[in-house]
Amino acid sequence: MVDAVRMLNIEKIYTSVNVKAVDKVDFTLQKGEIHSLLGENGAGKSTLMKILYGMNYPYEGEVYINGTKQIMKHPMDAIKQGISMVHQHFMLTPVMTVTENVVIGREPNKGLFFDKARAETEIQEMIDTYGFNMSASAKVESLSTGEQQRVEILKAMYGGADIIILDEPTAVLTPQEVDELFKIMSKLKKDGKTIVIITHKLKETINIADRASVLRDGKMIEKNIDVSKVTVEDLSKMMVGRDVELGMQRPSTSVGETAFEVKNLSLEKNGRNILNNINLQLRRGEILGIAGIEGNGQSELLEILTGVKKATTVEMYKDGAKIDGNARNMISNKVGHVPEDRMSQGLVTEMSLMDNVILGYHKNPEFSKKGILKKDAIHEFATDKIDSYRIKASNAKVACKTLSGGNQQKIVIARIFSQDPDVIIIAQPTRGVDIGAMEYIHSKMLELRDEGKAILLISADLDEVRNLSDRLAVIYEGEIVLEAKRDEFTESELGVYMTGSHTIKGGVGVE
Ligand SMILES: Nc1ncnc2c1ncn2[C@@H]1O[C@H](COP(=O)(O)OP(=O)(O)OP(=O)(O)O)[C@@H](O)[C@H]1O
Ligand SMILES: [Mg+2]
Repeated sequence: MVDAVRMLNIEKIYTSVNVKAVDKVDFTLQKGEIHSLLGENGAGKSTLMKILYGMNYPYEGEVYINGTKQIMKHPMDAIKQGISMVHQHFMLTPVMTVTENVVIGREPNKGLFFDKARAETEIQEMIDTYGFNMSASAKVESLSTGEQQRVEILKAMYGGADIIILDEPTAVLTPQEVDELFKIMSKLKKDGKTIVIITHKLKETINIADRASVLRDGKMIEKNIDVSKVTVEDLSKMMVGRDVELGMQRPSTSVGETAFEVKNLSLEKNGRNILNNINLQLRRGEILGIAGIEGNGQSELLEILTGVKKATTVEMYKDGAKIDGNARNMISNKVGHVPEDRMSQGLVTEMSLMDNVILGYHKNPEFSKKGILKKDAIHEFATDKIDSYRIKASNAKVACKTLSGGNQQKIVIARIFSQDPDVIIIAQPTRGVDIGAMEYIHSKMLELRDEGKAILLISADLDEVRNLSDRLAVIYEGEIVLEAKRDEFTESELGVYMTGSHTIKGGVGVE
């Protein structure tokens, strides 16, 4: 059978920064397979797939689709060949409906006019066929992250694509949403579609993919691996070139005084309690993890604790003294914050790496004197972070937008960790970073904790929360329903609280 895709000797140089992102790569996709494309941050995964999708012309080498040579100059060329792509960062318009987002640019017409009713019926049929469970007329801004991801997939399938590229579709999803996505992918595969999935979670590769290929520094170093014959450890070694410590655990040895305290935190919206009387104490030398299924108030909690949103009631204390929780105040009180959504809150991507790595801290004496920035000191600081966090960038002056997704992430982490905060409030710290960087970030968090920092960790990755936290609090429907030391309950007990099953009378048997 002829391969769905055959890419030969592909080379791509980004001339603006003179980076060879893809170096003489061969890549094939068999019809009807799920193929996992692996590699560290900056290895060239997105670049290679954007070439296939016609977004990275010019390139060197040859691309064959179903046996015929094609030149991929523009996404329209790819779409004509039945190829579609869901990008690493969502590209939806929040104020438009699901249908409008899906059909944009390809609207069915009635005479000269967009036939909205027909489009809506069509899209609702697709939604129902794939069991996506949402309304075609809903506004995208009202949807959860998982639902938005499904809109991206609908968009990719609309018009009948046979080859679907998913660039890190699971990075922003909860474990439950990942399960749903995998069901959808299996269904698509059954229908004869060919799928590429890029992911940093090797467990996912093992669970869903038939074959895998590994890029390192722009070169294809292992291809067409039969996934049924390898382990997570095998794959991680291929990617990084050494053994990686996955699932790092190191309990705290000395827990000190309370550094940060929140009392009576409540948030009411339209007569509904989004957060209800939350009380948390964060002590020096410990990591407190918040576990919970997305949408139970974590995002709002984070926004309040970091001064982005106002609570209905709240009292906050730093080292016993009452503080006003606005964002600027938090910084001066040495409460650091790694936001959940890096793209919109953590970075100004038009600006350089060095400007971003000190963003919000430019007034520190280290970086400025009498309002004048110390360019050399900032440059040195940034260069040091590029080294220690292994940020893949040719130098500190490049614009953030030219970096790969995972490397942008590392900039935000490096900024906060370097400012010697007493308290770190950190959300989804390893979202989108490769396993080597995850290992580094986790060990850094434990190191900071051992130095006596108090860390509040909010993550949708249950493995991450369980491994790193000394204490866990489970949030369910805006309330802390369980708080205990890590070893005091099992993973399944945790699941019972996270899903609210503990509230069922005569229920699931947790004391
Ligand atoms: N638009 C661009 N302009 C300049 N350089 C770029 C551009 N896009 C990517 N690069 C560079 O090309 C290299 C490969 O980036 P790419 O985005 O393909 O990596 P990736 O494997 O997808 O990484 P990640 O896992 O972090 O998403 C990186 O060094 C990156 O800095
Ligand atoms: Mg990428």
